[in-house]
Amino acid sequence: MEDKKRLPRHVSIIMDGNGRWAQARGKERVFGHLEGVESVRACLEAAVEDGIEYLSLYAFSEENWNRPQAEVNALMELMMESIRKETANMMENGVRFLVLGNRSRLSEKLNAAIDALTRETSANPRTTLIVFLSYSGKWDIAQAVRKAASELPAEKLQSLEPEDLDKYLVTAGIPDPDLLIRTSGELRISNYLLWQCAYTEFYFTDVLWPDFRKPQFREAIAAYSARDRRYGKVK
Ligand code: FPP
Repeated sequence: MEDKKRLPRHVSIIMDGNGRWAQARGKERVFGHLEGVESVRACLEAAVEDGIEYLSLYAFSEENWNRPQAEVNALMELMMESIRKETANMMENGVRFLVLGNRSRLSEKLNAAIDALTRETSANPRTTLIVFLSYSGKWDIAQAVRKAASELPAEKLQSLEPEDLDKYLVTAGIPDPDLLIRTSGELRISNYLLWQCAYTEFYFTDVLWPDFRKPQFREAIAAYSARDRRYGKVK
């Protein structure tokens, strides 16, 4: 086991490459998403075993609504099915479940299932699994500003500090990611946690998401543990 001090508290993942994984096998893209759920399960298991407090996953961006309707439906259906299948497993492993994003765009049925699982797992003490659904970083900042503007008096808004905005972001109360992993060789942040990744360590790998399992997850953690974080200071 790694030295606890060097373990990230919060690991976040941009799960990418499902489509390419499927296409390389002559299959429909949705086949890659199905296999991707197995990688979600493996990484969550590793996070629980290794004592990582927060694992967050970029499952669906605001921009992903522009994909073909059939693929959007398949991804939403996969979320429903995963919630149904994984409830018992999360309870057994002490996993707390949260969904963050623009919930108003999700179906009533999916919102109800998310609420039920969130409630049921709310007291679980081990790893918090955060699924970002219908999320984008710019949307998050915009909704935080709207909320702050509607709640705070004008003089407070005039002197607003960055820390004041933190509590209006959907991630309020959750530590910023220490480590952000992106699979499939793409080297960008794609409108993910823009504000929250100010000092996050990035880890990019060519491995496609369906092939990213426990060994690859632990390799990323080990790479993080070897880094020197200075937060803009000198040491
Ligand atoms: C990126 O691959 C993957 C997604 C947009 C969806 C990720 C969703 C899952 C793995 C399943 C549901 C999640 C949970 C938490 C149960 P891509 O389609 O962009 O691949 P490509 O870049 O190769 O086209």
